[in-house]
Amino acid sequence: MSSKAQLKVFRGNSEGGDLKSYEVATYPGMVVLDAIHEIQAAQEPSLAVRWNCKAGRCGSCSAEINGRPSLMCMTRMTSFPEGEPITVTPMRAFPIIKDLVTDVSFNFEMAKKVPPFKPPPRQADGTYRMAQEDIDRVQEFRKCIECFLCQNVCHVIRDHEKTNFAGPRFLIYLAGLDMHPLDTLDRRELIKDEFKIGLCNVTKCCTEVCPEHIHITDNGIIPLKERVADDHYDPVRWLLKKVGGGTKKEKAKLPIVVDQPSPTTRAASPQAKRAADE
Ligand code: SF4
Ligand code: SF4
Ligand code: FES
Repeated sequence: MSSKAQLKVFRGNSEGGDLKSYEVATYPGMVVLDAIHEIQAAQEPSLAVRWNCKAGRCGSCSAEINGRPSLMCMTRMTSFPEGEPITVTPMRAFPIIKDLVTDVSFNFEMAKKVPPFKPPPRQADGTYRMAQEDIDRVQEFRKCIECFLCQNVCHVIRDHEKTNFAGPRFLIYLAGLDMHPLDTLDRRELIKDEFKIGLCNVTKCCTEVCPEHIHITDNGIIPLKERVADDHYDPVRWLLKKVGGGTKKEKAKLPIVVDQPSPTTRAASPQAKRAADE
């Protein structure tokens, strides 16, 4: 027998908006994205929501469900107490386009700033060789589906939007490149000065919300912080570098100068206003 669930869904745009209540019939296995689709199909055809796979693979359906950054397609309706309304709001760190759809272009602009993987020439037999244990280490970071839930929850991005801090998603990307056994670029100066790793104070909120269960802080950010600190603050390494005995990697430069989304646009978003009021 089906029962009913109450949902409070944010409706609005960059000018503002509010929560609107809906009731949907539930069924076994239903997820929050199903409920949103039910509302779209039967009650509110103009409700905007971004999704693609409905399988936790594309990273499109990120939202805040009862305040927790989550994928709507991977959140069962049965995970909430029966009879209590479920609140669905857009990601708070990014400007709203409409309803549950946010403008996540900040992340794509940040991705463009990362100097890409640069392997050495192939070996004489046309192959590359790597130790399995070296590649196992970076494999974890490749599970990222770019849902940007970690970016959304990171307080440095949420509350200090003028810093240009890369955020956890891109710090693990940079960690994966830094630890890659074949990569020939040294990005550590950029990681310190451009991507501002020092602003991360290891609160681990990003790790808690990652739907891929990537150990963002313990396996990515902390080792990367140590590598950057060793390079810049370890006197022995510093001396080695000065006499040319340090890393043989080529120093990376920013690939292109990219305009970040205007902080004023972000500050004008209803989420930012909400955050300022809290
Ligand atoms: S651990 Fe660092 S990157 Fe992750 S949420 Fe906290 S401040 Fe942001
Ligand atoms: S690291 Fe995890 S939370 Fe962050 S974007 Fe990738 S999959 Fe999403
Ligand atoms: S729809 Fe693809 S992750 Fe949810």
